Amino acid sequence: MMHTNYLVIGSGVAGLTFAVKIAERFTDKTVTIVTKANEDESNTKYAQGGVAVVLDAKEDSFQKHIDDTLLAGDGLCNEQVVELVIKEGPKRLQELIDWGANFDSNDQGTLDLGKEGGHSEYRVVHHKDITGYEVERALLNRAHQLPNITILAHHFAIDLITDHHLEASDTHNISCYGAYVLDQKSKHIETIKADSTLLASGGVGCVYGHTTNPVIATGDGVAMAYRAKALIKDMEFIQFHPTALYDTQEGSSFLISEAVRGFGGYLRNKDGHRFMLAYDDRAELASRDIVSQSIDSELKKSGDTHIFLDCTHIDIEDFKSHFPNIYKKCLTHHIDIKKDWIPVVPASHYLCGGIVVDTEGRTSVKNLFACGECSRTGLHGANRLASNSLLEALVYAHNIYTYHVTHQLSSIQVAIPEWNDEGTVIPKEHILIQHNLKQLQALMRDYVGIVRSNNRLIKAIKHLDLIYNEVDELYRKSKVNTALCELRNMINVAHLIIHQSLERKENRGGYYNVDNEFNITSAYT
Ligand code: FAD
Ligand code: SIN
Repeated sequence: MMHTNYLVIGSGVAGLTFAVKIAERFTDKTVTIVTKANEDESNTKYAQGGVAVVLDAKEDSFQKHIDDTLLAGDGLCNEQVVELVIKEGPKRLQELIDWGANFDSNDQGTLDLGKEGGHSEYRVVHHKDITGYEVERALLNRAHQLPNITILAHHFAIDLITDHHLEASDTHNISCYGAYVLDQKSKHIETIKADSTLLASGGVGCVYGHTTNPVIATGDGVAMAYRAKALIKDMEFIQFHPTALYDTQEGSSFLISEAVRGFGGYLRNKDGHRFMLAYDDRAELASRDIVSQSIDSELKKSGDTHIFLDCTHIDIEDFKSHFPNIYKKCLTHHIDIKKDWIPVVPASHYLCGGIVVDTEGRTSVKNLFACGECSRTGLHGANRLASNSLLEALVYAHNIYTYHVTHQLSSIQVAIPEWNDEGTVIPKEHILIQHNLKQLQALMRDYVGIVRSNNRLIKAIKHLDLIYNEVDELYRKSKVNTALCELRNMINVAHLIIHQSLERKENRGGYYNVDNEFNITSAYT
């Protein structure tokens, strides 16, 4: 059994920021980061557009960013949280710069600010079109300099250790004591005892076959927290990004940043019609929920598989200097942005809900914190404003750090059992896992997509129950492996999305159910 003071599950912006801050402050304490793939693999690494922060005092203001966030969230944001996050933004960005992150400057020598959907001003700080890569690089570099941080790559957190695992358990007042973690190389399951545990395990994109997220985004943290009986909310608000590069294959898709539309790109149907003008005064720069729902409606009308993003009117040298990675990626698909329209389609992108936390990042389980995409802070409401996610993670990692500075850690007094896999065997038929995963993703795509209906959601529950029963039986009999655990987690997440969808009786932001059309649909104004 291993003991650490602070256990951090995940090495994206949320986990690394907290780890760096707490390790810098308490040099006598140990910080252990477990992360299931290479240490830099995360949604963070693929972030393109940037970090939304108010820096232009002449044109912009905190109030404008607050208003844009509230409008995008369609009346369901927590206004106190919105104000807190936005006002903290400049300080947290500066901290990131102090740790060595580089952001693009303009000719005047100040930070260059981009624009994305739903933003009324230019306020998105970026590093070309690979902002997340730069943020991840700088944070990992800082983490490596701190001797009290240990990063365990290729270590998969299977489950949180809570009172449910103890012999004399009090399952009404649940605490977290660490996690059971699979070393993917040795196959050993380590019991990691921790005085404080942070879930920073990211999003759930892979529950849908077609996603902008990398393969690590399987909702493990949300599922672990759910099994630990933590409060989970707003799971129906899955954000679909309007412009993933169209590909006939299922799986992770390359993102064409919203910043490209902020730079002047137009959305067209195959006849060349700029249809967004008919849906919203802001056209291509309406918030993401509106753009994705509009595209969905266009595709349903035409029967087409995708629409197009047209940048042929933009100066190509300017385009290349702002979006070099997108330009190169398109060329590898034989798309020359100077003369070709880019085929795009919406794909699952971001989880607006998740593990409920207070402003100090505390979940409803004692000694368990959550930060970043797996958490539900109340910032995003029914639909996240573009580039508010990196911002949220930076601010909440700081808040959780501040909580730990003002509250002493108490060491664990209970006896923790080791992982017990007596009577289980190594599963031989990987095909069962693959098959059920494909079924799950098809089910979510076809029945729980951008536009939902009660009929399809109820059918989805029935199908999901069948998949759940088969996988649960396999899980109980098997020595666990990552693929099986991820599938189990994605089933839990799908269950939450479907059930919380059925509970929502009016359409808000990213949630649209045709059976709610006659209920009051409140657009926040
Ligand atoms: P992640 O960065 O996803 O990190 C999660 C970590 O947890 C990973 O290291 C993962 O391996 C690990 N992990 C997960 N499960 C386990 C487990 N069971 N055991 C051990 N480790 C585990 N947001 C913006 O604000 N601006 C943008 O420009 C932007 N662009 C984006 C572009 C793309 C293509 C994508 C996919 C997202 C984008 N987002 C953007 C969203 C943003 O990147 C993410 O919401 C944010 O980076 C999440 O950070 P995180 O630290 O919470 O999670
Ligand atoms: C993008 O660059 O379009 C993604 C931005 C985000 O998800 O916030």
